[in-house]
Amino acid sequence: MVDQQHLKPLAEDGFFSDDRGSRVPPAHTVARGQLRDDEQFYTGKIGSDLAATFPMPVTRELLNRGRERFDIYCAVCHGYTGNGDGMIVQRGFPQPPSFHEQRLRDAPIGHFVDVITNGYGVMYSYASRVAPEDRWAIAAYIRALQLSQHAPASDADPATWQNGRARPPGAPKSDSPRNSDGRPSGRPLPPSTND
Ligand code: HEC
Repeated sequence: MVDQQHLKPLAEDGFFSDDRGSRVPPAHTVARGQLRDDEQFYTGKIGSDLAATFPMPVTRELLNRGRERFDIYCAVCHGYTGNGDGMIVQRGFPQPPSFHEQRLRDAPIGHFVDVITNGYGVMYSYASRVAPEDRWAIAAYIRALQLSQHAPASDADPATWQNGRARPPGAPKSDSPRNSDGRPSGRPLPPSTND
């Protein structure tokens, strides 16, 4: 069981007549799990246009996942709020544009997925580190960051104002336990599903 006869991938071996240990996949076959037939999902584009819509429903869960992945992979340069002032920039890496500038607020959602997939200018691709679904999750979270910096006061229902702080419906009341930075305590991030 432990030490069966085997071929080493990509190594030379005399078993087949061409002396190659690995076989060329038969023409017109796709390895299991590698069929990338949903163009929008994998590229952020529909035809040659950047997609303006999401290929999946945007849920609270997707946004939470996007926040977690953004904070891990993007915030080091783009900053936690997307201002472009992350620690690596403070240490000398070229400064990215703020996500809150009008051009990027107007950019179709597919632009963010495309930049993560292929890189942009001096920013390298994150395709090997961020799975396709997570690229959309991050893009959704960037949209949430953009909204957070341009929210008109009229978005807040006056009935939810308390102690000068807007409280969305269903959020914990201000007498519930809070961290020193004012966020409600005891709200762990959702579990990672990327392991
Ligand atoms: C190592 C630093 C670094 C990291 C990490 C990084 N970026 Fe960037 N990003 C940049 C820089 C620098 C630019 C500007 C590139 C240029 O214009 O040449 C940029 C540009 C962008 C742009 C703007 C493109 C435009 O239209 O101007 C987007 C969107 C973007 N990054 C998204 C992301 C996302 C999402 C992540 C995380 C998955 C990420 N970046 C991670 C440095 C980084």
